Formats: sequence, C-alpha cells, structure tokens
Amino acid sequence: MSRISITQLEEMKQKGEKIAMLTSYDASFTRQIEEAGIETILIGDSLGMVIQGHDSTIPVTVDDIVYHVSNVARVSRRALLIADMPFLSDSSPQKALATAKRLMKEGGAQMVKLEGAGERLAVIETLASHSVPVCGHLGLLPQSVFLLGGYRVQGREEQEAQQMLNDAIAIQDAGAQMLVLECVPRRLAEEISKALVIPVIGIGAGAACDGQVLVVYDMLGITPGKLPKFVKNFLEGSGSVAAALKSYNREVKEGTFPESEHAFL
Ligand code: KIV
Repeated sequence: MSRISITQLEEMKQKGEKIAMLTSYDASFTRQIEEAGIETILIGDSLGMVIQGHDSTIPVTVDDIVYHVSNVARVSRRALLIADMPFLSDSSPQKALATAKRLMKEGGAQMVKLEGAGERLAVIETLASHSVPVCGHLGLLPQSVFLLGGYRVQGREEQEAQQMLNDAIAIQDAGAQMLVLECVPRRLAEEISKALVIPVIGIGAGAACDGQVLVVYDMLGITPGKLPKFVKNFLEGSGSVAAALKSYNREVKEGTFPESEHAFL
C-alpha cells in the first residue's frame, strides 16, 4: 500500500472528492484511523490539551511533537503525516528549518503545519524552498489564544474576512501545499476554498471546504466538558471505535458532515 501524496490530495480537490483528516498521537489510534481509510493524519499540538492536560497548546515542545510523530510514523503505512510546529518553534526561517528537520528526519512527518500569515510568509517561503511541504493554518489560531482573548470564530467582520482571503492566497503563493481553516464562517471558508488550488481542510468551517479535520478524542466523545459546536460524537450509536472512524470518513466523503448545526454563519 503506497502512501497518499500531496499530488493525490490536489487531484481529489480537482475532482470534488472530499479529504478526511483526523489527529493522532500514538500507534493504536493511527492503525485504526488508517484502517478506516482516512487519508491524512495530523499530529497536532492539540496534544498539549488532550494528552498532557494543559489548557492551551502553548506549553507543547518540539521534543513532544517529535515523540508523538515517531509513535505515529512507526506504524503508519498510508496516510500523509502532518506535524504541527509548536509555539515559537517557527518564529524565524532558520528556527523553522531546524524544527522541520527534526519533525521530518527524527519524527517521520511528511509535512509541517504552522499558524498564521504576515511574518510567517517568509518562513513558509524558506521551508518550501528547502523542499519542506507546508500546511498553513488560518482563522482561529490556538497558539494566539492569549492575544485573541479566547477561542472565538474569526472573520465575521468584512475587513477581517477580506484579510483572511488575502492571507490564504499569500500562503499559497509562498509555497504552502495545504491550508487548515479553523472556526471560520462557512461562506468565507467556501470563498477561500474556491479561490485556492491547494486543498483547504476545515474544522468549524462548514461543508464547502475540500476536506474536514477533527481532534480524534473529541469525535469519539472522550474529551470532557462542553465541546465546540463543530464537533460531532461519531462513537454514539456506532458500537465501536473502528465503526465510528469509518462513519466519520464516510460522512466527510459524502458531504453529510459537517451539517449546518456544526457550522458558523
Ligand atoms: O492541533 C491540532 O489538532 C489542530 C487542529 C485543531 C486543526 O491544529
């Protein structure tokens, strides 16, 4: 079984086939996620919250991500593995290159994800010019939670929406090959997905994105407390983790997840 390539994901977008992504941080979930046919796995810095018990992603270190990516990569055979660049590990092009080197060479990731545009565009350009595949991340940026004052929908104001569209195009032009949009009104996410050639993966960004991502612990109902409205519990009524992961993959592919109740206006 050969590994999913970025080219295959771009072809899926061109054909209107939806891409499924889930987070994973260990070998056991990775085996099940791949068995369910999900194309991409994100070793997200959400591990700071769901694995380590912090209340933000800020404390996560490069060592943490390298450890979890290597657990995932050791058993992964098919999914494209995307590793998050932790807070401030991408604050300059040189630092980002050093981080990417560890995530890819020691960890085994095939792509790195970093949050934001602006000064990050030079970082994306440098990574891309050194053959590091990059996934951008716009909308709600969890690493900027203290600046944003909480986990809120982004891009509701017209000026903010226009800026996000411009940033998305700039991220693509800088050489990124994928973009995650988090907590963005569905019309704006649709506009951005249509404007870009690269696949746009949404979380709380509506059904018109080219694919969907969720935190695996959220969609299995393991995360305690009140969850964001974009999360659906796929374990409920499905009987097993394997069946829940397959339902997620099927619903993403059929376009029945997310429904309007999981999206923001
Ligand atoms: O860290 C993560 O899991 C993420 C997703 C929420 C997109 O960035």
